[in-house]
Amino acid sequence: MGFPDHFLWGGATAANQIEGAYLEDGKGLSTADLMVLSEHGKKREISSTVEAGKYYPTHQAIDYYHRYEEDIALFAEMGFKCYRLSFAWSRIFPNGDDRVPNQKGLDFYDRVIDLCLSYGIEPLVTLSHFETPIGLSKYGYWNNRKVVDFFVHYAKTVFEHFRGRVNYWLTFNEINVMSTMPWNAGGISLEASEETKMTAAYHQLLASAKAVAIGHQIDPENQIGLMYAGHFSYPNSCDPEDIQGNEDFQKKMLFYVDVQCRGKYPNYKLKELERQNIVLPIQEGDAESLLAGTVDYISYSYYLTHVCGKKTRGIFKGLNGLETGYKNPHIQKSEWGWGIDPKGLRYSLNFLYDRYQLPVMVVENGLGAVDVVEADGSIQDDYRIDYLRAHLLEMEKAIELDGVPVMGYTAWGPIDLIAASTGEMKKRYGFIYVDLDDEGQGTKERSRKKSFYWYKEVIATNGESL
Ligand code: BG6
Repeated sequence: MGFPDHFLWGGATAANQIEGAYLEDGKGLSTADLMVLSEHGKKREISSTVEAGKYYPTHQAIDYYHRYEEDIALFAEMGFKCYRLSFAWSRIFPNGDDRVPNQKGLDFYDRVIDLCLSYGIEPLVTLSHFETPIGLSKYGYWNNRKVVDFFVHYAKTVFEHFRGRVNYWLTFNEINVMSTMPWNAGGISLEASEETKMTAAYHQLLASAKAVAIGHQIDPENQIGLMYAGHFSYPNSCDPEDIQGNEDFQKKMLFYVDVQCRGKYPNYKLKELERQNIVLPIQEGDAESLLAGTVDYISYSYYLTHVCGKKTRGIFKGLNGLETGYKNPHIQKSEWGWGIDPKGLRYSLNFLYDRYQLPVMVVENGLGAVDVVEADGSIQDDYRIDYLRAHLLEMEKAIELDGVPVMGYTAWGPIDLIAASTGEMKKRYGFIYVDLDDEGQGTKERSRKKSFYWYKEVIATNGESL
């Protein structure tokens, strides 16, 4: 028993957090390229253009663009069955609205995908992971319906180009962060009104559905999923008001998943929009498109859980939307304040499967922590091993005891990469260490941490060694 045969063990990265080469070989600027280095607890500056004297971590990231061969060889050495990566839309369509793709951008991903396949690693590609082309600013990014067509053109182009080589796809990374981190989600200002965010979300949901339908047409073997930022929360108490407060919050997140799985907006969301006087920009044929583009599976990121209740108003408050007004006294927090809750992983797997009856996959999970390089060059990251082991054991229970069909598990950042929230390098998730500091100084050399050998054994034994 335990993990099924063909379980997709692996790791996950995002183009802007690893590639660097931000203007090389014809790539255009993306929203990620305007995010200035920050730190935990400090508001992130987003500049309107690249300014001299400011450090933008994505511009060189970990230089994977030039080192992907070494990095993927290390993934293969760990025995990865699956590698979740994203394509940078602006590497393939530099301005976002181009008709003809940038050949050099496609060439790069050809090399990456073919290398994965040569190692027997199944690629899983996210089409949009926190990097909307800056060229779409003239349309107001996702606030404009034209962007739906540009995205669908991009999706169609890569579905055709990689037909037969890539079969697992995700449309938008953490689509629900349009409600918490709208700039990352799609170039929408943090100060934007609820109406703007809900319009942009509508356009992304429509674009996702259209892409799913086209992807299925191009290759019926394609498995196309959604990707949800796992903001699971517990009610603060059994006070019915706390139960309702938690439920209200959950619905603000889950409606995105409802639409992608069921092909229509749920009644509770339509009623809320009505109360807010928000009219979605629905056009003829949209209802049919949403219904025709439901996903094949649900993927999500799982790092933490929250507590919500009658005090939780609207969406999460605070930096990265992580403050709900309550603390959970039963769990520890990471150095970056994220509540560590392995048991919640089993709960979340059951929750999603019960609600939607679709296969699920955990495509991000991990511990962001500071690592220390010992005098002998080793990195003894037992805290990371403990975190991952505890989560994997709970996942195994969901599979074995609860019968949840879990397709696979890709640990976040198998190689150290720059943090999405702060741009820091010292918030490390990797099994592979990268010699680079927050300001981008270092040799960029890669080395294996203790967790590298541990994860290799987990995969080799299909989880038996846990
Ligand atoms: C998820 C994102 O929200 O969390 C990743 O999909 C991100 O891009 C990850 O890196 C961890 O967050 P952070 O801020 O620690 O990098």
